[in-house]
Amino acid sequence: MSILMDIKRLWAGYPGGYKSTVQGSHPAGKALPFQQPTDPNDIRSKIPALGHREYWYPALPDKDISWNKPQVLRLLGLDLVFFRGKDGQVKALLDTCPHRGAFLSLGDCFYKGFITCPYHGATFDGNGECVAFLTEGPDSKAVGEMKAWAFPTVTVKGIVFAWMGEGAPVDPREDIPPEMFDEPHTVVRWSCQVFPCNWILVLENTNDAHNCFFVHRNCVEVLRNKLGGRPRTPLGYRTKVVGGVTANYNAGGGIAPTERYYFDENGNIPYQMYYPGVDGVWPLHKYRLAWTWFFERRRAGRQGNQRWGAALRTTRGQGNARGDDDWQGTRLPSISAKGTGGQTMFRSHRWAVPIERDMTRIVYVNIERYLEPPSFFTRLHRGMSWPIRNWSHNFNFRWADVDAERTCRYDVPEYLTPTDSTVVVIRKVLTEYARGVHTSEELAALEAQGGIREEELVTERALEALQAAQSTYKEDIKEGIARTRTQADWGKPASS
Ligand code: FES
Ligand SMILES: [Fe+2]
Repeated sequence: MSILMDIKRLWAGYPGGYKSTVQGSHPAGKALPFQQPTDPNDIRSKIPALGHREYWYPALPDKDISWNKPQVLRLLGLDLVFFRGKDGQVKALLDTCPHRGAFLSLGDCFYKGFITCPYHGATFDGNGECVAFLTEGPDSKAVGEMKAWAFPTVTVKGIVFAWMGEGAPVDPREDIPPEMFDEPHTVVRWSCQVFPCNWILVLENTNDAHNCFFVHRNCVEVLRNKLGGRPRTPLGYRTKVVGGVTANYNAGGGIAPTERYYFDENGNIPYQMYYPGVDGVWPLHKYRLAWTWFFERRRAGRQGNQRWGAALRTTRGQGNARGDDDWQGTRLPSISAKGTGGQTMFRSHRWAVPIERDMTRIVYVNIERYLEPPSFFTRLHRGMSWPIRNWSHNFNFRWADVDAERTCRYDVPEYLTPTDSTVVVIRKVLTEYARGVHTSEELAALEAQGGIREEELVTERALEALQAAQSTYKEDIKEGIARTRTQADWGKPASS
């Protein structure tokens, strides 16, 4: 073995070579640690690296917490210990004993509803009040005086949300999707995964729709679809701030005018297009057309995509126009929200929950909506098919992003193009609209001002690119049809 290693070293040119450390040794997948720009005029420097605190965040499923053993979880750079309180609800305290700082999570719940520190036996209730100090006996003066930092919690449809702020918690309905409160028969399924990078990189990716065509092109869901999730376009979406909380590009409203740029007169987009700079077409091959016709025909013929229940029958898409839905788009604090209302039967909202600077827990709150209580067989069927649906939608598809996200340098100047307009508005929402950043009067003034403040963008070049795009294509966008050409316009010229 060592001979083999020595040969390898020689092969690499000098002892130790360079190939094993070509990208350093940082444990986060060899990507450099997250850095923000130092230029205060760069909007990216203003986004908090550990997340906005004054919000409710999804923490864990209620069923993961037993009566006798606490559970620790790091959220926004803080360790929280979860245990079941006297009222049966899951409670959260900072995982630091106020006495001498031991981990409460290494302790036990000897008394039902209370947590006991492993060091000197200080025992706390769900509000963080010290109710007993076992090593000092029943007369300890710490009882009723010493207090642990308690984080308010609320459990909705089996998911525990924690208030991470230092201010008074807002009504949880402001931060938790409405169908989790208003629709009694919804079934909510939890899933999550961890990405080794900062939450901002995760969030900026989730509504970056045009990477779908490229990064995810070999994911199961996209393989079935000729367009690869979204049509190509050099224009991007017209994104706006809705309700002072969401960057919304009206993704649920059908194909946007800006996405029709390459459409021919029949509304078709060529599968392959010719790129003169490389004298080649993309995609390179047409082999997937061998099966996509089957899935597209099936999709067109299926009524699908509507809420389940005998009392309601709508055709696909009807009632789905979401307009100015502030639960559609990228929503504060870090939600990729899938819309509300309408008849769609699935919602999969996802939160990029900061763990620490270089680690993010992506929490998927998967919602199945029913108009009436689902039958036993429906529940059985959905329950049994859940692992495969979860894998396909939340893991196979999503994991494709990990290498792109974790390797993005956030501190370098960017060349933003019109397809990045959503990212620009997301940054605006994260920096100007977050709770704790502005008063409600200031927010109203910002709202009235409207529009994207491109001048806050990073470089001159990026600004120029955006201005050019917005002026060049303004009329096209206004007319609702960006370009109407024939398919031949995008094919390889016969002469070359
Ligand atoms: S450190 Fe917790 S009881 Fe002493
Ligand atoms: Fe992606």
